[in-house]
Amino acid sequence: MTATAQRYQFRNTTAQLGPLQEVLDPITFDELARLGITGGQTALDVGAGAGSIVRHLSELVGRDGKVLAVDMDTRLLDPTGVVDVYQRDLRSQPLPVEPGSVDVAAARCVLEHLPNRHDVLDQMIIALRPGGQLVLGEIVYAPIAVHAPADDDNQLIGWVVNTILSVLDDRGVDLHWGDMVPAVLLANGFQDVRTRWIARTWAGGTPGCRLYADNATQLSDRLLTHGLTHADLDRFAELMDDPTVLVRGYTFASTTARKPR
Ligand SMILES: C[S@@+](CC[C@H](N)C(=O)[O-])C[C@H]1O[C@@H](n2cnc3c(N)ncnc32)[C@H](O)[C@@H]1O
Repeated sequence: MTATAQRYQFRNTTAQLGPLQEVLDPITFDELARLGITGGQTALDVGAGAGSIVRHLSELVGRDGKVLAVDMDTRLLDPTGVVDVYQRDLRSQPLPVEPGSVDVAAARCVLEHLPNRHDVLDQMIIALRPGGQLVLGEIVYAPIAVHAPADDDNQLIGWVVNTILSVLDDRGVDLHWGDMVPAVLLANGFQDVRTRWIARTWAGGTPGCRLYADNATQLSDRLLTHGLTHADLDRFAELMDDPTVLVRGYTFASTTARKPR
């Protein structure tokens, strides 16, 4: 499969990126707070999506700073005096940054989707100044546990979520990439490499379950080819909105690291 042949599996919508941001922003913003970003610095967000990290970075670097937001779909990104938005398909186009010009570079739930993820990470590393910091996050494979009201529902939720993960895996999304990131960064000489693997329960109707529901809707054509029926997917959508349902959320691997000086 060529780099350009493997296409991104989702459409950028607020129904998907809204709950994703609600679930992951507290983790990512906590990482950014630890890095000591100061006014006037330059930040890069690769695969910026609906822009919550971009907006947060622009507050951290202030009016004298710069945030470069890059995505192949920039419809949900707004340029400002601080934020420059670049439309780039990173499978075939390079990052629009000067080597050694960036203080902090982020990519969340992006590199695992890219067939040329190693190359894009190399570009991010080259873009960082010595001592610059990386903030990477990925959803990684983990078995699902469910606490639904009835056994049948319990089984259905497990089946749908596991099928979402295997459909993504079949389509070239590397759900083990986030687990390998610390080793890749150490091999590149990075310091202060720190990864947290985070999973928590999500109740029906909360942002995490809305994210599961939207992922199932966006991938429904492929889920139907794995033996699930329209009735199963309708029931799954109901369950993801049922506050008595409690399910283990996606596991998120969040890594920060510093480029050697
Ligand atoms: C799951 S979303 C994550 C968005 C954002 N980083 C976040 O965590 O809220 C993945 C993002 O990667 C972008 N993306 C996927 N493939 C891409 C490519 N080949 N080039 C540039 N951006 C890409 C998508 O458009 C989308 O905005």
